Amino acid sequence: MPIGRKNSAGSAQSTSGAIVEATAVTYAYDETHVLKGVDLTISAGERLALLGANGSGKSTLLRMLAGAFKPDTGEVRLDGAAYEYSRRGRNTVRRSVQMVTQDPDEQIFAASVFADVSFGPVNMGLENEEVERRVREALVTAEIADLAERVPHQLSYGQRKRVALAGALAMHPRVLLLDEPSAGLDPQATRKLAHTLDQLRNQDTAVVVATHDIDFAWNFADRAAVLADGKLRVGSKEEILANQSLVEEARLTLPWAPVVSKTIGRDVLYPEDV
Ligand SMILES: Nc1ncnc2c1ncn2[C@@H]1O[C@H](COP(=O)(O)OP(=O)(O)OP(=O)(O)O)[C@@H](O)[C@H]1O
Ligand SMILES: [Mg+2]
Repeated sequence: MPIGRKNSAGSAQSTSGAIVEATAVTYAYDETHVLKGVDLTISAGERLALLGANGSGKSTLLRMLAGAFKPDTGEVRLDGAAYEYSRRGRNTVRRSVQMVTQDPDEQIFAASVFADVSFGPVNMGLENEEVERRVREALVTAEIADLAERVPHQLSYGQRKRVALAGALAMHPRVLLLDEPSAGLDPQATRKLAHTLDQLRNQDTAVVVATHDIDFAWNFADRAAVLADGKLRVGSKEEILANQSLVEEARLTLPWAPVVSKTIGRDVLYPEDV
């Protein structure tokens, strides 16, 4: 993707810089109260890591931000306007906010990678030339240009995850929500993912990653949030990810970088930074 491209709808941002705002959101599946008053603001270009134990509600919150679920109470807004849950309203949200689910097979169904990644842009009603341009660009950013003609279901799990990511990128989202994007990836594929997400910084795309991989979160994020008992605690990555009790609430251990740097008395670099 060309460095420096702005998202097409970027100029529509509210003056506060917030793109998506969730306010006092609650949500329950029958008797299971998952979100009990969650507030979250997502601004252009920001990178937020969302942590929490299994079953704490991370995927539920991402689906809420993506407009797939409607809050029981509270609201979610895009550029200051409350989400509408009609077909039209959901399409409006989808043009700015894209979610990639943990399981790529929930989102991949076309007969070729190219066709699959085209699906969103075609549905948006874009001209063929623009669709092709976006798909090629997304395949390059997701580092799967060589897989364009392959049958998705014959690809490896990690490759299918990149196809699903490319499908979201082709929509030029202003907010990208990734549910456990590094789960099941080998270390090299995880570094490739980090590299892909780094490129999005230049386009001011906000990226929210739900993950159990605290080292990935530490490398990736500017801000972090822990979801526990239906409440979200948000802060800078240092405030959240280097806080032992919060990290334990997410059933994780501290990321190794701040721990090692404290021990040796200087910053530590990851292998790819050396
Ligand atoms: N469709 C559903 N019907 C009923 N309960 C559900 C449904 N989906 C999720 N839940 C429940 O809601 C809670 C939150 O689930 P959610 O998938 O959001 O958690 P999570 O933080 O993403 O977990 P994980 O780390 O395992 O992915 C869990 O108790 C789960 O059992
Ligand atoms: Mg989940």
